[in-house]
Amino acid sequence: MRQPKSPDLRPGYPGQVNRPTILLDCDPGHDDAIALVVAGAFTRLIGVTTVSGNASLEKTTRNALLTCQLLGLEVAIHAGASRPQIAEPRHAEFIHGASGLDGPALPPLTREPAGSDAAGFIVESASDHSDLWLVATGPLTNVAAALLRDPKLADRLAGIAIMGGGSTFGNVTAAAEFNILSDPEAADRVFRSGANLVLADLNLTHQFLLGESHIDRIRRLGGPVPTFVADLLTFYSTAYARAYSGRAEGPLHDPTAVLALSHPELFERERRHAVIELRGDHTRGMTVVDSRGSHRGEEANLDLLTRIDAEAAFEVLLAAIHSYRGGS
Ligand code: RIB
Ligand code: CA
Repeated sequence: MRQPKSPDLRPGYPGQVNRPTILLDCDPGHDDAIALVVAGAFTRLIGVTTVSGNASLEKTTRNALLTCQLLGLEVAIHAGASRPQIAEPRHAEFIHGASGLDGPALPPLTREPAGSDAAGFIVESASDHSDLWLVATGPLTNVAAALLRDPKLADRLAGIAIMGGGSTFGNVTAAAEFNILSDPEAADRVFRSGANLVLADLNLTHQFLLGESHIDRIRRLGGPVPTFVADLLTFYSTAYARAYSGRAEGPLHDPTAVLALSHPELFERERRHAVIELRGDHTRGMTVVDSRGSHRGEEANLDLLTRIDAEAAFEVLLAAIHSYRGGS
């Protein structure tokens, strides 16, 4: 049975009170692909842009096309930056595999990118959609390029929801998280842009750990999309065990940046001031978050998501996956 182009929400989805209009800039990547699952189910996804990050631009673009094809999402995908502005390109095969989406069996690709100017597409989309949220789940190279292309972009957008950074720890170095460290100069431009920023950092995403029992529940839904997500998470959690904790569970980073907009009630948040360290020998790419409270530091420039109701968020994720049940 052919699924609707973008699954219609049925009443009763947990906590679905609004359906934000979003453009997702991503580097699929296992958790980016699951962010696409959530975005397709719970937002008005008007476009996708891809960036070099977890894998090369060619691979992240291919993976975004394959994921949207498998989900039956008819959405324009525009490729973007093949490398950061200044930093050397950095990838993460040790978590995402050589293809950037290792694990699931994927169908032959039948789709093409709609273009290769992600920054231009972001700028054009912001002027076409007055309520547009930009969601960034990879290095911020495309976002910074779009801000440079249109100096009014920060005001045009409803906001920018970012997965990146770590208030108290990193995952590439002790201080720096992958998305930010991959292009610190781009991140610095975004954090200083004056846009309405929402940040899902590692301190938040490590509260949303998925392991075997979660994967079993997803797989038991049955059908191509639950199987795709379960296979993604099996590969991803095993890679995390090997690389970090020894426990077969992985933090589901990127979907939190989408859920922050579609299901804000799942989160607690605080106004904070954060800057990007560009020069430290040991701290380049660090998100320096001022936790002293606004009376001491500079004026807050973002909403920092500080807590997620992980159990409720998993039920919402399950509902998103279930909404595709028949596959494309
Ligand atoms: O550090 C985690 C982030 O880096 C996630 O967005 C993951 O997909 C990688 O891009
Ligand atoms: Ca990502």
